[in-house]
Amino acid sequence: MRFKRGQALVGIIAATLATFPIANVHGTSNRQSELSPRVIHGVDADVGQFPFLAALLNTKDLQQKGVFQAQFCGATLTSPNTLVTAAHCVVDQKTGEQHDPADITAGFTRNLDSLNIRLVQVTNVSVHPGYEIETSANDIAVLTLAVPVSDIPPLGPLIPELAVEYTAAGSPAQVAGWGNIVISGNKYPTIFRIGDVKIFPDSSCGEGKRNIINGVTFNGFSKSEVDSSVMICAAGVNSNKEIVDACQGDSGGPLIATGSAGPKLVGVVSWGEDCASKYPGVYSRVSALNAFLQSAGAMPISIPTVPPTVSVTPLLGEIKITMTGSQGETTVTQYAATVVGPNPASPTTTQTLNCFAAPTKQSSSGSCSVTGLLTGAQYTVTAISANELGNSSASAPVVAVPSDQPIAGEFRSVKFIRTSARFGLTPSNANSSPLEAERVICSPVGSGAIRSARVTGDSVIVGNLTQKKYKCIIRIVTDAGLADSVEKVIRRQ
Ligand code: ARG
Repeated sequence: MRFKRGQALVGIIAATLATFPIANVHGTSNRQSELSPRVIHGVDADVGQFPFLAALLNTKDLQQKGVFQAQFCGATLTSPNTLVTAAHCVVDQKTGEQHDPADITAGFTRNLDSLNIRLVQVTNVSVHPGYEIETSANDIAVLTLAVPVSDIPPLGPLIPELAVEYTAAGSPAQVAGWGNIVISGNKYPTIFRIGDVKIFPDSSCGEGKRNIINGVTFNGFSKSEVDSSVMICAAGVNSNKEIVDACQGDSGGPLIATGSAGPKLVGVVSWGEDCASKYPGVYSRVSALNAFLQSAGAMPISIPTVPPTVSVTPLLGEIKITMTGSQGETTVTQYAATVVGPNPASPTTTQTLNCFAAPTKQSSSGSCSVTGLLTGAQYTVTAISANELGNSSASAPVVAVPSDQPIAGEFRSVKFIRTSARFGLTPSNANSSPLEAERVICSPVGSGAIRSARVTGDSVIVGNLTQKKYKCIIRIVTDAGLADSVEKVIRRQ
């Protein structure tokens, strides 16, 4: 475990540089800023502000030296039992080894000198599998807490769908932490600081271009220094033309921006070229690292608010229902469909039936079937999205009539070999009636002969397509009726 803090000088907040190996692999050239003086140029947090900010404390130091000396990084409560921090806070930069969760305690407080700080043990450390010590790529980790912190509102990580809105170049953001507040030497605050910064355009965060904020020109990081697909740059300039930036000790803490979905975690303090220099601070880009946060359980769970979209497939005595949730941070773990309509045993009475489906791994959709229905009768289908906390309202009702009619498959692919076309198909469904035929039928656009071929299995070859352009359909005929697929237009090269 690295320490960001040295020995306490009595009554003052100070530490010696020698005691902290600073893991800034990028800061090779010690550029001095002309505007130098104080880092962060932030302000003390107000009481109750950013309650989701946690201090990462070295457990051993905590027992021997107290909270202030034990603090080494920041972290953000993103769900009742998870903290998001920087990978470099919890991975030994020399050996690449992960810290033992028992060595880390989370402290929830505004003031590290406060006497009643909520301390919670960390029980698991999960580092992004793509984290690279050399480049700081994917500098993000999730810590699991021994006890859920249910009374502090978490800060949700920014989801990709909201990235454009929240992280547009020039938009405001805030960085918070107990990190160093001076550029030369060390001065650590007891109350965490908040700095007002601006999101930098990718052109100066991986494409080397300058960026001007409030009349102050910042240098851009080049491609070899910053990978803007997983990193985001930010820095600010206050009214005194002083640069606002994160610094040592702030690592792992949040970069916060707000938008239509309220405040979100958009970045994690990762590294910089010194502090408050002419280079912006570099943060892990949270919206790009969502898959990892999701798999590590760090996405917040809230009650689903949007009902799923419902599509129905009427079958013989059966309705198949596919439900698709709206994309968002709310994790839907189950869909429930309700089907209301006549009871086949006594068609004048109404019955209510349910079926349940979980979203599949690949998509946010789930399907289930309600059987034992009266073919030809009208049923009303509604559905809800649910998770352990609760469920959405019901979707608008969709009417479905169980039917004995066949259902045509769909075209998946088409490939021409001279005048023959090979089609890949999804299976048609005869829907319990004897199958008479299933064919792909291609009609020329303009003059010429109609060509067709019988479908066997999931592909079919239609020959003699001597015209340039055809409209093709899959047609299934059973004793009960006929169904056509959506038309596919094909053109010979
Ligand atoms: N790597 C530093 C830490 O461990 C954070 C550096 C942030 N620097 C900056 N100029 N934004 O605390």
